[in-house]
Amino acid sequence: MKHLLKMLDLSSEEITEILNLADQLKYEKKHGIPHKLLEGKSLGLIFEKASTRTRVSFETGMYQLGGQPIFLSSRDMQIGRGEPVQDTARVLSRYLDGIMIRTFEQKEVEDLAKYGSIPIINGLTDFCHPCQILADLMTIREYKGKLSGLKMSFIGDGNNMMNSLIVGALKTGMSISVACPEGYEPDSKVIDFAKEYGNKFEMFRTPKEAVVDADVVITDVWASMGQESEAEKRKKAFEGYQINSELMSLAKSDAMVQHCLPAHRGEEITEDVFEAHADEIFEEAENRLHAQKAVMVKCLSDK
Ligand code: CP
Ligand code: NVA
Repeated sequence: MKHLLKMLDLSSEEITEILNLADQLKYEKKHGIPHKLLEGKSLGLIFEKASTRTRVSFETGMYQLGGQPIFLSSRDMQIGRGEPVQDTARVLSRYLDGIMIRTFEQKEVEDLAKYGSIPIINGLTDFCHPCQILADLMTIREYKGKLSGLKMSFIGDGNNMMNSLIVGALKTGMSISVACPEGYEPDSKVIDFAKEYGNKFEMFRTPKEAVVDADVVITDVWASMGQESEAEKRKKAFEGYQINSELMSLAKSDAMVQHCLPAHRGEEITEDVFEAHADEIFEEAENRLHAQKAVMVKCLSDK
């Protein structure tokens, strides 16, 4: 695997290989088995948006693999003052063995991969969040023992999370139903992709329709990073799109809840549902570490 730019680029087999390696690395970490698979390698971490989980899990993950993470805030880089991506990519390719980037436009990530000569890992764009989805799939597989045949429901914004979950769920044999208000649908590229899967993908206006018999119910914030000025407008648009106990009563009785975090209790999810599923949600957050270590090994290892 050369890069991780978006879920659309991964085959079903590649996803399974990443999840299997992630499980193995999690086991090795828990049992104190050394796994310094990236000794001598350096990974640059470019952040043009805030982060808690992505930054800390990539930094510590790279350290556990024997490599060196280098945090690069765009505020301190020339890219933040207008140096073109094409030049940044060609320069950093001469120092580093890989780059993780969190930014706004998907094109910036694709351009880094196009102009640079080292692996690029997408740590979130407005279009997608593949590292998060790999951790989500890992967690669901851990709790349910399988992915194929399960039903996922995503309630809320057609944002980076919804876009990537649709692709990740369908590529791993799950079905997915989403509910979003008019004007907040997933990206048209994702809808076109999902159409090939027939009735395994369904889009509804009401959360109740989407959540029926779900094995996993997922949501995300109503205003993503970069959309702060729309927060009030979005609060109105997403009224009724909340995961609460009434909605959960329509899902399977043993349904899981996942949330990429940070969560806004009382908006997209109630406090009681969040706390009832806190173990699954924080396992999901932990699995960012293991899933991303698998991605780094797949992309950066010489073997
Ligand atoms: N879920 C997630 O990506 O969290 P951060 O924004 O804290 O990295
Ligand atoms: N949709 C959210 C995800 C945060 C991890 C955002 O882009 O801000």
